[in-house]
Amino acid sequence: MAVNNTIILGIESSCDDTSAAILAGTKILSNVTATQLIHEKYGGVVPELASRAHQENILPVVERAIEEAGITLKDIQAVAFTQGPGLLGSLVIGTSFAKAFALARNIPLLAVHHMKAHILAHFINDTEKEKPTFPFLCLTVSGGHTQIVLVESHLKMSILGKTIDDAAGEAFDKAAKMLGFYYPGGPLIDKFAQLGNPDKFTFSKPRIQGLDFSFSGLKTSILYSIRDAQKENPNFIEENRNDLCASIQKSIVSILIQKLEQAVQQTGVNQVALAGGVSANSELRKVLNGKKMDDWKVFIPKFEYCTDNAAMIAIAGKFLFDSGDFATQAVSAKARMDW
Ligand code: KG4
Ligand code: ZN
Repeated sequence: MAVNNTIILGIESSCDDTSAAILAGTKILSNVTATQLIHEKYGGVVPELASRAHQENILPVVERAIEEAGITLKDIQAVAFTQGPGLLGSLVIGTSFAKAFALARNIPLLAVHHMKAHILAHFINDTEKEKPTFPFLCLTVSGGHTQIVLVESHLKMSILGKTIDDAAGEAFDKAAKMLGFYYPGGPLIDKFAQLGNPDKFTFSKPRIQGLDFSFSGLKTSILYSIRDAQKENPNFIEENRNDLCASIQKSIVSILIQKLEQAVQQTGVNQVALAGGVSANSELRKVLNGKKMDDWKVFIPKFEYCTDNAAMIAIAGKFLFDSGDFATQAVSAKARMDW
């Protein structure tokens, strides 16, 4: 089979989603994800429970991905997996599975960087969507990361700025927790914000030099505003839920967009892409789309490729495969991983 149509099995298990996908060339044939709902009641991902659930889910998820793709085991020519960064106990499950799979099938193993994969999801073949050309800037916003990345090729990327404390997704989730929402609360803030007034409440803005981000001051500001208001009115949250969500969302999005504007000005690169779970946020998508008026070219991934998924791992693996960058059986999962 020609290199261009290489069939790759992608596996993602860095946090609380167990996912498997089949890629043929740059086209996704299947992308199956089992989301672990067990963490909701704990207010965050419990690492021990996550790795146990990955172990239960991984085989059925891979089997379903193969079945939905309409291929057989012997059609798979390489296996790509998330090596890191992420929760070690979770990563180990996907890594061990991929190593065993590659050994048993005698096929190449491709070790993928989770955050680079979020960015490379933009290159999944989808006829409706135009792809960014190099160089472009990518705002990578997830539960664990917030970065502005200069992407010069499928393999060459550099971080221009990053958060010095909480990630944007974490800011959403922590604010949501203050409002009494279950984990992860980011999507719920987005949902209720649609019905609220984003200018009702204002919170303090970070003053961080360069292209780095900070969200801890905002978190404290939200916490104190709610606490003070509750002293006056114990039903403050219930009575102002939608306006609080809209105002919190506006604050987080404006911090992100302001740094992106700075990055565009600094680099002269006006192609801007979004990646990571928070790119599912409707306000962020709307504001970024609005920047097309300022001559930006904007690229927003399809909803299903925003949050953690194995399709992005498979496409990132394809670029490693094409460059001959194979992992050996000595490869191990890494909770922290150099860029
Ligand atoms: O990339 P991702 O799926 O997992 C990580 O690698 O962290 O990102 C998950 C994060 C969570 O913090 C979640 O609350 C946030 O993305 N998120 C959202 C939305 N959808 C997911 N945050 C705000 N609005 C959304 N619609
Ligand atoms: Zn992610």
